Amino acid sequence: MSTAKNININLKIWRQKNAKEKGGIVDYKLDNVSTASSFLEMLDQLNEQLINSKQEPVAFDHDCREGICGMCSLYINGRAHGPETGTTTCQLHMRKFKDGDTIYIEPFRSKAFPVVKDLVVDRSSFDRIQQAGGFVSVNTSGNTIDANSIPVPKDDADKSFMAAACIGCGACVASCKNGSAMLFVGAKVSQYALLPQGKVEAATRVQNMVRQMDEEGFGNCTNTGACEVECPKGISLENIARMNREFLKASL
Ligand code: SF4
Ligand code: FES
Repeated sequence: MSTAKNININLKIWRQKNAKEKGGIVDYKLDNVSTASSFLEMLDQLNEQLINSKQEPVAFDHDCREGICGMCSLYINGRAHGPETGTTTCQLHMRKFKDGDTIYIEPFRSKAFPVVKDLVVDRSSFDRIQQAGGFVSVNTSGNTIDANSIPVPKDDADKSFMAAACIGCGACVASCKNGSAMLFVGAKVSQYALLPQGKVEAATRVQNMVRQMDEEGFGNCTNTGACEVECPKGISLENIARMNREFLKASL
């Protein structure tokens, strides 16, 4: 039996026409929101209301809506991805809110994630970091070794898999007082550093990714740990320590 009910909410949403213009918080009232709907469905409902009254809909990022792609990047009531631990914005449900609640919605903020429009930010800096070294080169000349024939200790495989769970959402950056991307880069470096296939390019990978991270204007890590707390995929700070060790090894 469904326990869903309808609630009325007040929204305070960051509106910004484009990257150049100054933005600001705008108030909206939204009635009859089903508690069974997702947070993004609630925003769809708001946008329908805005379109029907000939107003500009709110621009926000989304794609898979199932916690995989990392596109949904909203700061909800002062927290990246909202109040639920281990949950992306798209997997947050309106049952977490009460009738009459006021919800603040802002874009992820960081120097390296400039606002494009409303709640949409440009996270192409992450793509450039990934392109700098977040891959494994494979010889496809016909002599490729079957990956399954290379033994990998179970503990390493598990840790690599956990690092690979990073969806590149940027919540770690948005939550960090320094705007540091070290949890993201640490996860990407660790994913490969832990596997034999990743060892061939290990030194250039970590050097190139860290160089690109610095060039993009991300801040440094001061071990506050907000990134780990707000990461929807539970990426551990251990990955930052591993990246630092890899970087030191590559520099010797
Ligand atoms: S480390 Fe976590 S918060 Fe940062 S980009 Fe990856 S999944 Fe998102
Ligand atoms: S829309 Fe893909 S992770 Fe949220």
